[in-house]
Amino acid sequence: MKIFLIGFMGSGKSYWGKILGEKLSIPFFDLDEQIVSHESRTVTEIFATEGEEHFRMLEKDILHIITESHDSFVMACGGGTPCFFNNIEYMNQSGTTIWINTPLDVLFERLIHEKEHRPLIRELTGEQLKAYITKKFADRKIYFEQATIVIDKEPVEIESLVQKIFHA
Ligand code: S3P
Repeated sequence: MKIFLIGFMGSGKSYWGKILGEKLSIPFFDLDEQIVSHESRTVTEIFATEGEEHFRMLEKDILHIITESHDSFVMACGGGTPCFFNNIEYMNQSGTTIWINTPLDVLFERLIHEKEHRPLIRELTGEQLKAYITKKFADRKIYFEQATIVIDKEPVEIESLVQKIFHA
């Protein structure tokens, strides 16, 4: 069973992914953490030294490496993972994708306090962040919408999510 959690930055992919992995007794991977440990540099450092394009290549490569070397896992993807290359098709072909569709005002409240380690938003003021979330979400929605399962409310009901996964 290969499960990919997708959604905007701050949607709780890592938090719920860990809980889901425990519930299903399968390993949990955080894609950003895997990139960081593979590169021995933070995401911010990778963006600053080699740029976003290079980060997206690494992201795709490590997504493929983990997916192809494990039979079962829950993976928390980065916010942009489904939106580059053909990653969303790849994930849908390899397993089950789950989109945590958190309301934009909730994302803003979370991200305003958690900007530092996120290179795409760390320099933004509150007003700029609001505009960024609105614009980026509109751009990325067409990718998120391709998920097998969509979660529209938090806290995520894990029991019901597990049922949906088995059903899918
Ligand atoms: C990104 C989201 C981040 C990380 C990188 C780029 C994005 O992951 O992959 O900073 O493009 O939305 P989180 O969604 O875990 O913050």
